[in-house]
Amino acid sequence: MRILVLGGTAFVGRAIVEDALREGADVTLFGRGRTGSHLFPDLPRLIGDRDTGDYAALRDGEWDAVVDVSGYVPRHVNQAMAALGDRVGRYLFVSSHAVYVQTGVGPGSDEDTPRRPPRRDTEVLDNDTYGPCKVACEDDVLARYGDRATIVRPGKVVGPHDVQETFTYWVRRAARGGRVAVPGHPDQPVQVVDSRDLAHLVTRLLTDDRPGAFHAVGPAEPTTLGTLIETCARAAGTDVELVPIPIDAAPAHFPLVTPRAQWPTRQRSAARAQAAGMPTTPLPITVADVLTWDRNRGEPPLPHGLSPEAEATLLATTTP
Ligand SMILES: NC(=O)c1ccc[n+]([C@@H]2O[C@H](COP(=O)([O-])OP(=O)(O)OC[C@H]3O[C@@H](n4cnc5c(N)ncnc54)[C@H](OP(=O)(O)O)[C@@H]3O)[C@@H](O)[C@H]2O)c1
Repeated sequence: MRILVLGGTAFVGRAIVEDALREGADVTLFGRGRTGSHLFPDLPRLIGDRDTGDYAALRDGEWDAVVDVSGYVPRHVNQAMAALGDRVGRYLFVSSHAVYVQTGVGPGSDEDTPRRPPRRDTEVLDNDTYGPCKVACEDDVLARYGDRATIVRPGKVVGPHDVQETFTYWVRRAARGGRVAVPGHPDQPVQVVDSRDLAHLVTRLLTDDRPGAFHAVGPAEPTTLGTLIETCARAAGTDVELVPIPIDAAPAHFPLVTPRAQWPTRQRSAARAQAAGMPTTPLPITVADVLTWDRNRGEPPLPHGLSPEAEATLLATTTP
């Protein structure tokens, strides 16, 4: 199978390329040539730029499928589709669980959950626009390719090479052991999908030439923030004491912390993706692999969470 990957050299796309190569696919990469330029030296690399709309490098060639992992706004997908036309068999768009409405969603919700209204009037991505822009991308891909379109909507993706590093915060924090400040409640549900499981879902959907929408969430068994932190501690051989602190005492957008009203959005059903072949790596394995990766790269500073000093101050001054 010949697969063109738009992106493919950062976190999610890299995992997809690695899985596709394991499955024996011929992979071509398209990107600016800036990220991960040391990766995949044997693969053809077409140079272009989605920001400026430069798709000239795609003027020749045919592929059984394109995986669009770097499309965020409708202009991205429309320009790519115009460049590729019918020289691709299937268009698989990597979307996000952020397309779904945020309220009125019960636990176990599936891919037929209502989506937010599409946004086409902005390319500035933030909490309000990211999901609606992905909705517009999905709609345009479906309108152009119909049954040859596949939509994959990941929840929080975790694993080695994670550029967002929110999961890494907890892996590293638990490895330090001791009293751990947990904003909100340790019983909060958490869904994280291992990047390698997501990647294998993508290649299976392509191999099986399967249309439709699939949200990719994990792990295998429902889990909570508290259990996740304890799993991280076990992987590192440490002991932790979870100390709940009020959400508003912690920095905003704290890693993996979700306000109670949105807990059901962290309890989506993985049934459709699993039936289509998505594996479910056990959480302890994902944690252990992230711990090893983070240590091997020398544990650079993380952009999220609390420093040890800030956490100690918070634990000393805050009562739940
Ligand atoms: N991480 C999560 O938890 C999560 C959750 C839900 C959905 N997702 C989705 O998963 C995808 C993330 O993919 P990713 O981790 O591989 O990272 P990404 O940052 O979306 O993509 C980076 C890749 O795209 C290329 N790229 C970036 N800007 C480009 C441009 N202007 N023109 C052409 N290529 C460009 C990069 O190579 P060059 O820099 O060399 O161009 C690199 O290969 C996104 O679609 C995101 O919405 C992620």
